[in-house]
Amino acid sequence: MAILVVGGAGYIGSHAARALRRSGYEAVIYDNLSTGFRRLAQGFELVEGDIADEVRLRPVLARVDAVMHFAAHAYVGESVENPRKYFRNNVAGALSLLNSALDAGIRRFVFSSSCAVYGVPEKIPISEHTPRAPVNPYGASKLFFENALEAYGRAYGLCSVSLRYFNAAGGDEGGEIGEMHDPETHLIPLALAASAENGPELQVFGADYPTPDGTCVRDYIHVNDLADAHVRALQYLEKQHRERSRDEKGGDSLAVNLGTGRGHSVLEIIQAAENATGRPVRRTMGLRRPGDPPALVADPAKAQRVLGWAAQRNLADVVSSAWRWMEKTAQRHAA
Ligand code: UFG
Repeated sequence: MAILVVGGAGYIGSHAARALRRSGYEAVIYDNLSTGFRRLAQGFELVEGDIADEVRLRPVLARVDAVMHFAAHAYVGESVENPRKYFRNNVAGALSLLNSALDAGIRRFVFSSSCAVYGVPEKIPISEHTPRAPVNPYGASKLFFENALEAYGRAYGLCSVSLRYFNAAGGDEGGEIGEMHDPETHLIPLALAASAENGPELQVFGADYPTPDGTCVRDYIHVNDLADAHVRALQYLEKQHRERSRDEKGGDSLAVNLGTGRGHSVLEIIQAAENATGRPVRRTMGLRRPGDPPALVADPAKAQRVLGWAAQRNLADVVSSAWRWMEKTAQRHAA
């Protein structure tokens, strides 16, 4: 069975492509390389193209059975400053991809959604029943696409799974692929970089939150656990596909949280980074970053119940794999 991994040269997509291959699927990567990297797609067929390019997509879609869609802009702050960029790609471009897939006869679709669809939740942990009320254009763009999948399910029989990631982090255990963002804005790589001798200092964004140590709490989920969840989602869709009677019209639209169910504060992350590198993380206490909710922690029970999935890796695994990847990257650059 062949899967089109749209955005497969990016951080999470490249890990998912490898997980698919490990599970016996053929993964074809489609990426415009605007934020993805050719080297993350190494060893896979890479078709270069934009998600809105129907002509480029048509022949590729004709030879796959399902689509996984990772190709999105994903900086919350940037989405507030430049919503046009986000709505153009994450909404208009994504919708064009969805229509191309539908026209090609694809009926199985896995979507990278986000806990950003929940906005600032009233209750922690966050279950899938929590009202979806995004507070920034990035979250709004993800919610739009979830709604489109639901409508397409009802009207056209499309079966989909929206995976709402919490904080993706870490890298493949082999150290060959990992988190690569330009610019890097995420806490774990920045904390690790701040432990280097001449590295930039980490700024802790706010220490006056209503949390146990005053810093923000997040649910950090290992990228390979996320990748495994995509394989499970696909297997779920295959089962639905097999069991659906021919005259059944509506397609199933499933949405599940992907997190560990455990929250860690920024200070705990700094401690974990110090444990991994054996060096102090140089930091200053700064002001809150606008738009950061105090705490986001998943209730992952539904993923366990419906997909049989639960995170296998803990925070130490996340941080040590991220560190291994950073060290390997530095060695590559030095060579
Ligand atoms: N943080 C710092 N200093 C930094 C960077 C981050 O203190 O230099 C803090 C943030 O305030 C936050 C935590 O570390 O409390 C994590 O921040 P990240 O930027 O690593 O991740 P976010 O929680 O902001 O973003 C993640 C995903 C987004 C997703 C969002 C949902 O990366 O794609 O969760 O809220 F939309």
